[in-house]
Amino acid sequence: MNLVIFGPPGSGKGTQAERIKSRFELAHVSTGDLLRAAVASQSDLGRKVEGILAAGELVSDGIVLELIREAVTRVGNDESVRGWLLDGFPRTRGQAEGLGEIVAAVGQKIDAIVVLEVPREAIVERLAARGRTDDTPETVMNRLDVYEEATAPILDYYEGKVSIHRVNGDQPIEAVTEAIERLLT
Ligand code: AP5
Repeated sequence: MNLVIFGPPGSGKGTQAERIKSRFELAHVSTGDLLRAAVASQSDLGRKVEGILAAGELVSDGIVLELIREAVTRVGNDESVRGWLLDGFPRTRGQAEGLGEIVAAVGQKIDAIVVLEVPREAIVERLAARGRTDDTPETVMNRLDVYEEATAPILDYYEGKVSIHRVNGDQPIEAVTEAIERLLT
């Protein structure tokens, strides 16, 4: 099974991906984690994207599509998992179209998209309590605006092409996990 976990910044994508990946034997692929690892290692890619992450802007489609191409290939060769769980990707129409080409080239498809719905006020409260370097109030507002403008409209692109499951993400972590598991089994 190949899944996308979708939702605004701070909606719990990473938290839920970590909880459901073993249940469905999936490899969790987070573009945010991959980009933060590149920044931490100060690789060429990391130095290139550091300021973009700090500002809450989007890294270019070309860069993230390359990361995803590598990840999908790696997961396809990994016999310990039964598919991938993409977190934080796709985030633009271009990324959605690019993903379609990548998966078609290896004879795969997206089986479902799980959308975590959380009100903006709850997200602002959550991220203020966490304190990652891109969780400053100004950057959080920008990340939310970028989500609304560039990312949320992708769901229209997938409407009628892929099963889209909307989940209330504004409830205790365990309850969100149970809701996702119910939808997928
Ligand atoms: P990314 O790492 O993907 O960040 P994000 O989408 O902003 O999401 P977060 O990681 O903040 O939140 P989440 O939804 O995973 O929630 P989490 O489980 O962590 O991207 C970071 C940056 O990288 C982007 O801004 C961009 O610059 C770049 N980037 C990444 N992907 C890209 C792409 N495809 N294209 C271009 N650029 C890209 O939870 C958040 C907090 O809430 C935690 O403290 C958690 O404990 C808490 N929490 C979780 N669930 C609950 C709950 N149910 N109740 C209460 N608290 C909860």
